[in-house]
Amino acid sequence: MTRPDRARVADMLWGFFPAQVLRTLAGLGVPDLLDDGRRDLTELAAATGCDRDALGRLLRAARGLELVDVDGDGRWSLTADGQLLRTGTPGSLGSLAQLFCGDAPWRSWGELEWSVRTGEVAFEKVTGRSAFAHMADDPRMLAVFTEAMAEGTRMAASGIVETCDVDGVEVLVDVGGGNGTLLAAFLAAHPHLRGVLFDTAHGVGDAQDVLGPLQESHRHATRLREGGFPATRGFGERIEIVTGDFFAAVPPADAYVVKSVVHDWDDERSVAILRRIREAMHGDARLFLVEPVLAEDTADLVAQRVMLMSDLNMLVCTGGRERTLTEFGRLLDAAGLRLVDVRRVPPPTGFSVLRAQR
Ligand SMILES: C[S@@+](CC[C@H](N)C(=O)[O-])C[C@H]1O[C@@H](n2cnc3c(N)ncnc32)[C@H](O)[C@@H]1O
Repeated sequence: MTRPDRARVADMLWGFFPAQVLRTLAGLGVPDLLDDGRRDLTELAAATGCDRDALGRLLRAARGLELVDVDGDGRWSLTADGQLLRTGTPGSLGSLAQLFCGDAPWRSWGELEWSVRTGEVAFEKVTGRSAFAHMADDPRMLAVFTEAMAEGTRMAASGIVETCDVDGVEVLVDVGGGNGTLLAAFLAAHPHLRGVLFDTAHGVGDAQDVLGPLQESHRHATRLREGGFPATRGFGERIEIVTGDFFAAVPPADAYVVKSVVHDWDDERSVAILRRIREAMHGDARLFLVEPVLAEDTADLVAQRVMLMSDLNMLVCTGGRERTLTEFGRLLDAAGLRLVDVRRVPPPTGFSVLRAQR
């Protein structure tokens, strides 16, 4: 019999301590403060408004985690791994740390047992509302969420674009496309494409900056409104931002990309979104569903740990789930769509592109 690996299990047990160290460093802005050079504890405590002794203990713990370093004069700096907590750095995890370990998701994970007992969404127990309704009233969490989604999508975008065949497509809609990070990658790679970013008025976040930075005078003069309008910078006339509700209707197009959306919802609501897309699709239109695909065989699950944790994150935070190919096939079928092709997005991301048609 294999001997138990106590250290491995203990690492899992105390995993939430280092996770909170990451979140707290990022939330206090310490990585950004250390971006431009070394600072001593007194400077850092003043800049972050923290208790000097307690901040010193946080930094010492982060030193133990090899996120920061300190020289003989007591001046702190970021290690290579610590750089990943900086805002805007390629591959940054700073916003994800603040999102997953931030107030409402953190308290929701504290109710995992309740969600497992009841099958209900802990986030709704903890806050009284769905995650998206809660964020609409919490500008800080919404900004962290939007940037966290964009951080993940930036890492995956070129692989996803490469995996989706948009030959012959004139108009591509990104349904639930957040701030347009993925759509921008499609438009940059395919000069023939026109793009429509479709999300809620809150969900599009800073899309106008991502898709076409506006000059200061335009930024204040131009407001997102229900319906569409062409952005005036960046991709110019090639982009439209449309705000609305994907349970009601989505804009017509030749192709639809839907990334990390269906996993937010239970089967019934996922089918409703897919039906709205099917209703908008013409006969030759194609749908690219971009999600991780869970292994059907439980023997393969060890390699999918991150995805399995994401599945529980959906259980407690949104009521959604990660799915196997068979489960995606059932959703598409129920929405009147046919699964025609499945392709793995090149590593390191664990996404697949499921192509479907009417
Ligand atoms: C997990 S995020 C994915 C964002 C983006 N596709 C990505 O992968 O980075 C889910 C998106 O669905 C949007 N969303 C949620 N409810 C919506 C609704 N009823 N109608 C349109 N978009 C919605 C959210 O605002 C959010 O941008």
